[in-house]
Amino acid sequence: MPVIKVNLKKRSYNIMVGAGILSSLGKYLQKLGIGNSAYIITNNPVNNKYGVKLNQALKKYGFTTRFKIVPDSEKSKALEIAAAVIKDLASYDRNRRIFIIAFGGGVIGDLASFIASIYKRGIPCVQIPTTLLAQVDSAIGGKTAVDLAQGKNLVGTFYQPRLVLSDVSILKTLPLRQLKTGLAEVIKYGIIQDPYLFSYLEKKYKDLLNLKTASLEFIVSRCSAIKAGIVGRDEKEEKGIRTILNFGHTIGHAVEAAGGYNKYNHGEAIALGMLAATGISNRLGLLKNKDALRIANLIKKIGLPTKIQGVAYQKIISAHYRDKKFIGIKNRFVLIKGIAKTKIVENIPLEIIKEALRKT
Ligand code: NAD
Ligand code: GLY
Repeated sequence: MPVIKVNLKKRSYNIMVGAGILSSLGKYLQKLGIGNSAYIITNNPVNNKYGVKLNQALKKYGFTTRFKIVPDSEKSKALEIAAAVIKDLASYDRNRRIFIIAFGGGVIGDLASFIASIYKRGIPCVQIPTTLLAQVDSAIGGKTAVDLAQGKNLVGTFYQPRLVLSDVSILKTLPLRQLKTGLAEVIKYGIIQDPYLFSYLEKKYKDLLNLKTASLEFIVSRCSAIKAGIVGRDEKEEKGIRTILNFGHTIGHAVEAAGGYNKYNHGEAIALGMLAATGISNRLGLLKNKDALRIANLIKKIGLPTKIQGVAYQKIISAHYRDKKFIGIKNRFVLIKGIAKTKIVENIPLEIIKEALRKT
């Protein structure tokens, strides 16, 4: 079973990847020694499918469990929901060595780890990601968040989990649209850092769309290793290293916001954002036509959108200026000079962005 270490000195942790490993969770937790009582934050779709299995895996090793169900939507990433969960957690937390398990996709992961980071100034958190996006991205690296009406992810902390357990057999029940969302982030890892992964996706995309276990295990462990490496070198995004994970995200986030967060989901918007960033890189003479074409072809083969439809360009342009990270600059793009060759460029002229959007 692939085990990937996130190297952060005293806050280092393992990412375990494999098919069927959920049933061994109790054994791994016993070794970690982080507590004897699991407070599991999840939602109904995940709990109905896998809650019994998780409960058995914990009970078998003597852990007590409490399942806290929150609504299944981005709306759960809210201060009000966090407050309600924390009150429930506090009333349950009597003479127990308690830890939190985030059991779900990125929404559950962001909410549960946020709660773990602030309750009693921090209690241990274990991530059991159940979507591809969460397994390859959100469960790793310690970014926690809830949203405000003013914007997504505006309240949050950096708080590393104690273990990430990615059981790829759980992905078998993912709806196709959700699978493709995760694959958009996998393509991103290939583009920013891993030519072999990129070629693998070009060859094996059908296996992935058919949820073949070996292919899932390969991409989840490969992407986990890439993210672990980046986070290990730039945990808090202060050195410009973690920034490359934002390839496709400058325009992607703007497309998501301009579409009211329902026209395009995260991965679809990122696919469009990666095409825009590819177009800008090509227009600026950084990227050869043949590489731009490879990227566009892969996105198309996976069945992700390749044309922005039903969202006004002007709305996208306005939204991209509102990124919370742009202070004292107009914009910041992760561009590419080839597969696995990134370059961060600021203040790209509006005309060039508009041209790239028109072609996307
Ligand atoms: P999600 O958590 O909403 O899950 C998508 C849907 O899939 C939900 O309806 C969920 O109930 C369902 N689901 C989950 N697991 C399933 C399974 N195994 N089988 C069937 N259905 C299942 O969405 P997501 O795409 O996983 O995560 C998106 C969130 O992640 C956003 O809030 C985003 O801001 C956040 N995010 C965080 C980071 C980070 O670094 N912290 C990185 C990227 C994204
Ligand atoms: N998903 C971007 C990051 O973790 O930095």
